[in-house]
Parts: sequence; C-alpha cells; structure tokens
Amino acid sequence: MHQVATLETLEVGKPRTVEFGQTKILLFRDQDGIRAFSAVCPHAGAPLDQGAVCEGRLVCPWHKAVFDLADGALLEPPALQPLRRYPVRIEGDAVLVAVEPMASPFLESSARTADGDPRTMVVVGAGAAGAAGASALREFGFDGRVVLVGHEPGEPFDRTALSKFVLEGGQAPDETAPLWPEGFAVRQRIERLHDTVTGIDPAARTLSLASGGSLAYDAVLLAPGSVPRPLDVPGGDAPIVRPLRTREDASAILAGLSGQKRVVIVGGSFIGLEAASALRHRGLAVTVISPSEIPFEPVLGREIGAMLRALHEANGVAFQGGARVAAVEDGHVRLESGERIAADLVLAGVGVRPATDFAATLGPAEDGGLEADAGLRVTDGVFVAGDAARFPFGIGRIRVEHWRVAQQHARVAARNMLGGDARFEQPPFFWTYHYGKRFEVHGHPSGFDRVDIEGDLAAQDFVARQFRDGVLVGLVGCGRDSELAGLALRLAARP
Ligand SMILES: Cc1cc2nc3c(=O)[nH]c(=O)nc-3n(C[C@H](O)[C@H](O)[C@H](O)COP(=O)(O)OP(=O)(O)OC[C@H]3O[C@@H](n4cnc5c(N)ncnc54)[C@H](O)[C@@H]3O)c2cc1C
Ligand code: FES
Repeated sequence: MHQVATLETLEVGKPRTVEFGQTKILLFRDQDGIRAFSAVCPHAGAPLDQGAVCEGRLVCPWHKAVFDLADGALLEPPALQPLRRYPVRIEGDAVLVAVEPMASPFLESSARTADGDPRTMVVVGAGAAGAAGASALREFGFDGRVVLVGHEPGEPFDRTALSKFVLEGGQAPDETAPLWPEGFAVRQRIERLHDTVTGIDPAARTLSLASGGSLAYDAVLLAPGSVPRPLDVPGGDAPIVRPLRTREDASAILAGLSGQKRVVIVGGSFIGLEAASALRHRGLAVTVISPSEIPFEPVLGREIGAMLRALHEANGVAFQGGARVAAVEDGHVRLESGERIAADLVLAGVGVRPATDFAATLGPAEDGGLEADAGLRVTDGVFVAGDAARFPFGIGRIRVEHWRVAQQHARVAARNMLGGDARFEQPPFFWTYHYGKRFEVHGHPSGFDRVDIEGDLAAQDFVARQFRDGVLVGLVGCGRDSELAGLALRLAARP
C-alpha cells in the first residue's frame, strides 16, 4: 500500500484527487471513514473532484452521472459502470491506498454463470438505451439469457459525438467512443444479434426478425430510437440533402464536403446548430435556415437563445431566422421568400420520428411513440426506453430525445423487467456543444414564466434558473460545472 495523504489534508465531505504513478485516486472522507475510488468518470473521463456531493452521492461535473459514495455504485447514467474502489488503510495520521482495485462482482466476468435464471430478456436497438438496458440487467443481478438485437453495424457507440467531434474533424466516424469497454459483452454474456426486428407479438411474446425466424422473450425492452424526418419539399430527396443520425450519415456528409465549401443547414435544431459549429471549425461557409428568429426560445428563454444566435454569428454563421425552405433545386436552397442560397451540401435537421413501424401491434401514438407508464411498461412483458417512449411527466405525457434520459429509462425498465417497481421521475437533462463550450439544460420546457440569469451570458459563463409560479422548474448553464452539478441534485430532489 502507498501513502497518498494525511488525515488532516482530507476535508469531510469534500473529495480530493491524489496520484501515485499513473493512477488517479479520489479520496472521500465522511463520518464513516475514508474511501478511495477511481478519480475519472468512466463515461468520458471527467475529473470527479470537480463534481458535487450531496447526501452520500457524487455527481459528475460533465454529463451528470451519479455514483454512490458508500461503494462507488452507479446510480444514474450516462456512465454505465460503477467507480473502481481501492482498499484504504489508516496508520496513525497516514492514509494508505492499495495499488490494485477491489474486485467488482459486476465488472469481473467470474461473477456470471451459464446455468442461472431460465428467462430470456431481449433488448431491441443497440443505441443509448439498448446498451444501458442490457448492461443494467447484468448489473442488477440477472443471470439468464440477454440478447441485444440491433441493425446498426458495429458495437454501441456515442452517437452524440457525430455532430460535434466527428463533423469537426477530431474523430473519424468509426472512431467514436464505444459505450462498453472492450470485451464487455462477451464477459457479461450479452448475445449480440445484428438483425432488424420486423414485428412483435406481445401475446405470444415473440419478435420476428428480418433474417427470418423469430425470437422468444420473457420480457423485452424496445429501444429503437428515431429516424430523421425527411425534408418535405420539392428536391428534398436530392443527393446533396443529408440527414445526421448514424456513422454512415456522418461519413456521407464528410465525403460530400471534400473540395466543397457551402453548407446550408435546414432547421434550427440543437443537432443542426452543433453541426454549424463543427463545420465552421473546418472553415466551411455555413448558412442556417431557421423558422424562428431566436433559436430554442421555448427551451432556453429569449436571452439565452439570442446569446446562442449571436455566438454563431460571431463565428461566421449566416443565420436566416424566420425563414422556411420551399425547394432544393439546381444546387440551391430556395426559401419561401424566393431568395436562393447556393449549397454544395444541405444538412436536414428537421426533427426525428420514433422508429416504431415494426411495433404496429402495440398501437403507437400519432407521433410514433409507444405509450408507457412511469415504470416504462407498455404492456405485459414489453417495456420501452429512449426516444420511442411516451411517458407520464407532471400532468401530461411527453417524449424526450436526450441521451441521458434514454439511459435512465432503460435502467428503470431493466429493474421492472426483473420484477421490480421502479419509476422514472427525474427532470430531463441534456447537454449541447458549440464552439468549445458545453451548455447544459435541466428540466422540461413545459412553461416557465421567469428566468434569473447569474454570471456573464455573453462570455458563456452563467447559470440561469427557470421558475414557474415562483417554483424552480429548470436550469440552463455553461462554464459552471460544479455549481450546476449541485443545483441539478436539488432540482432532481424536488417532488
Ligand atoms: C448527431 C446527434 C447528436 C446528439 N447529441 C446529443 C447531445 O449532445 N445530448 C443529448 O442529450 N442528446 C443528443 N442526441 C440525442 C440522443 O442521441 C438520442 O436521444 C439517443 O440516442 C436516444 O437513444 P435511443 O436508445 O432511444 O436511440 P438510439 O441511440 O438512436 O438507438 C436506437 C438503435 O436501435 C436501432 N434500431 C432501430 N429500429 C430497429 C429495429 N427494428 N431492429 C433492430 N434495431 C433497430 C437503431 O439502428 C439504433 O442503433 C444526439 C443525437 C444525434 C443524432
Ligand atoms: S464524463 Fe461523467 S457523465 Fe460524462
């Protein structure tokens, strides 16, 4: 064991990072003693000592994964693994930590046996929710068969990088971060089927597969995500018009850009504006056609929306607010006003629709979502998670297209597939990335009547609190990781 600190240097309730060799260890002291964990978040490597601590939980400063400080257990995604824990010994005033982490029943393959539970759990869709659901089934102790069916090539990956680091040029489309460490699916006996589910018979508890045959389940988690909506104007299907959802889409966009200079992004969506930021980074001429003058006003409020527009304009984006596309023709985008904008590539960011055509037997709602209860249960033995789920929130029902929500859904559904009674009751959260700044948004934009902004909005260093009838309902912020992590816990704790 190595001495890494002395007792007097460890403040109660305040995590501190120490290093020995290449290893970074997070020490945490409370009334029960001192515990040591890996100091970087298993999701994307955030320094966990910058996070917030509240009631024995640690919130990651970047994308708000939550860990239990008693044992490092994962409480909320987007991390899908617990923290590694290290043995600690106190000798006099010295704090000693072992070089090797403790064994983890979830992370170590030896914990799984092949002759356990006779049930089969199937997960449809190997994206954000599907990967979280399959791994949660194992994390929660299920020992039977887990099958993950998905038609996207390769292994589950971080889709959110496509509109950021991939379009920017920092990552190749097939180099996006995998959601699981190497060998994880094999160690956890997660059977990976590259196939398309074409139908579901909830009475017989079977799925039909495009390759022929069917797959029987005891419980199934449907996590098919969404497909981009087409650009519904004349010429909207021209080869220069591209969506952005998959690695293949990103490759096609980048291939289409070689030697070309002018990109028109249709729709003022978060993905569209992230793409604008990334493509400006590459030096391309970018025009954004948005139906609203102020992007995201209903979600962010007027001042923050205006700041975001100004940020894009300051970085060279031609922002055409209050404009609609009438057609794509002769290498131009024609607006309803008659104006024509030359385009070598048109990126269609006009929204998505849940990929639930295969689930007609479950009667999808008009927007394509599958109606579920707060436990993400659609009907006996059928659960839904992610973009495809319509679930109760406040006094209504909503669908949310956020990464972390998809994974939270999946963890709730996994508990219930195993007979639990978990409910999804968290405020939705997402992050978005523009010109090197990560903005975060907590809560659902179901109507706030006041926004209090603290900090310097123009410098993208602020926290905004959204209120309805004097009650805090949402948070928007940038550049204030620790503060937002703490506030997010308080928002989540509200009834
Ligand atoms: C470019 C981009 C950037 C984004 N950035 C952010 C961000 O910064 N922050 C954020 O919070 N959210 C972001 N999002 C949204 C986020 O990625 C989605 O909300 C999230 O991926 C939804 O998870 P999901 O599991 O429901 O769907 P997905 O992750 O899309 O996974 C669904 C999977 O199911 C497969 N599938 C579909 N139908 C079938 C079928 N019938 N049979 C077999 N397989 C099937 C699909 O091929 C896919 O692999 C971004 C989305 C995109 C496209
Ligand atoms: S780096 Fe911790 S949640 Fe993403």
